[in-house]
Amino acid sequence: MSVPPAPHEIPADVVHLEDYARHAQARLHPAVWAYLSGGAGDELTLTANQQAWQSIKLLPRVLRTLHGGHTHTTLLGQSLSHPIMLAPVASHRLAHPDGELGVAYAAAAQEAGMILSTQASTRLEEVGQAFLHEPGHGPLWMQLYVQHDRAFTLELVRRAEAAGYQALVITVDAPTSGARDRERRAHFQLPAELAQVNLQGMATRNTPPQGSDPLFDGLMAHATTWDDIAWLRANTHLPMVLKGVLHADDARQAQQLGIQGLIVSNHGGRTLDTAVSTAWALPRIADAVGQDLELIVDGGIRRGTDVLKALALGAQAVLIGRPYVYALATSGALGVAHVLRLLRDELAIAMALTGCKTLADIHPGLLIQDGSGAIGA
Ligand code: FNR
Ligand code: LAC
Repeated sequence: MSVPPAPHEIPADVVHLEDYARHAQARLHPAVWAYLSGGAGDELTLTANQQAWQSIKLLPRVLRTLHGGHTHTTLLGQSLSHPIMLAPVASHRLAHPDGELGVAYAAAAQEAGMILSTQASTRLEEVGQAFLHEPGHGPLWMQLYVQHDRAFTLELVRRAEAAGYQALVITVDAPTSGARDRERRAHFQLPAELAQVNLQGMATRNTPPQGSDPLFDGLMAHATTWDDIAWLRANTHLPMVLKGVLHADDARQAQQLGIQGLIVSNHGGRTLDTAVSTAWALPRIADAVGQDLELIVDGGIRRGTDVLKALALGAQAVLIGRPYVYALATSGALGVAHVLRLLRDELAIAMALTGCKTLADIHPGLLIQDGSGAIGA
């Protein structure tokens, strides 16, 4: 009989990101698993994200000289060893007691960028200290849900600036949660001890008067608008990135407001079900604003070949969400570092096998859509 590994060991059968999913499911309470792994509605977008990357085929080049190749790049003016970053995910301590601090050490050790969620279960100052003191660390960005209390929102921005965060990521695709059926069926509730520590001290939101619409007169009455984005842009020196843009017209509007980057994302299929897969949206946004804005993409990135395809379609970098949370749940900080190492190595292998010496060699001519030849040339 095999002995289950201790919570800081890597199970012997993990060789790929998705291998962590079954270990995480086995370790976590079913309601926590439903929250972390689930999506909105019928989970069509959740599934389509991964399928979309898989459906794009590679047309490799051979016999090129690859000696001296590397995965280095730059993002918002900062150099990175590789283009893989950790997406903002709420409440890491739900998955493992190592929580955000463990994730910060792992990301820094793997020279990966990290985006801390507004809804983190650790104070942003502590995460900043842990991450920024590690030699060789990548970029550290703060994800912001603009709060109904705008003064409090600005205070959060000031805290992020003071703690050394290098960019603000404003998430714009979740003014309300999606219809998360799996989560509701499992009766998930955030445990009180994992309260959103960075939001403590915020004024409570007024409940809308009786008879008014709870969504449109409640949450939506305070939801973020383009005016708020312009207000924030005028009130911080940090570069700003909008997360959750899928429509080229929104990308153009962001560009006009002086936004530096976009994360092409459908929130990992957790908000609007049947929203387009990000592999489909990315090249359209790249056509619209790719010369002027830095583009990042997330949703269903599980393989080094997915990263290569994302870069070929116009992204500078990618984010991973669930895979690192599953690794955290299984093996703590060590698992997170392992997932990043696996994906970096797979990217390097994919580059070598498609004839790409650097990320600049990755281009749409390496891609073809199954059956149609629509991508590339
Ligand atoms: C998220 N995501 C998210 N995004 C965000 O802007 N702020 C947040 O607090 C969270 N929280 C969160 C919790 C959980 C459990 C998940 C799975 C996701 C979305 C996340 O940043 C990212 O867009 C997706 O996870 C990317 O898709 P994959 O890699 O999970 O397929
Ligand atoms: C989620 C929120 C926290 O996706 O963004 O669960």
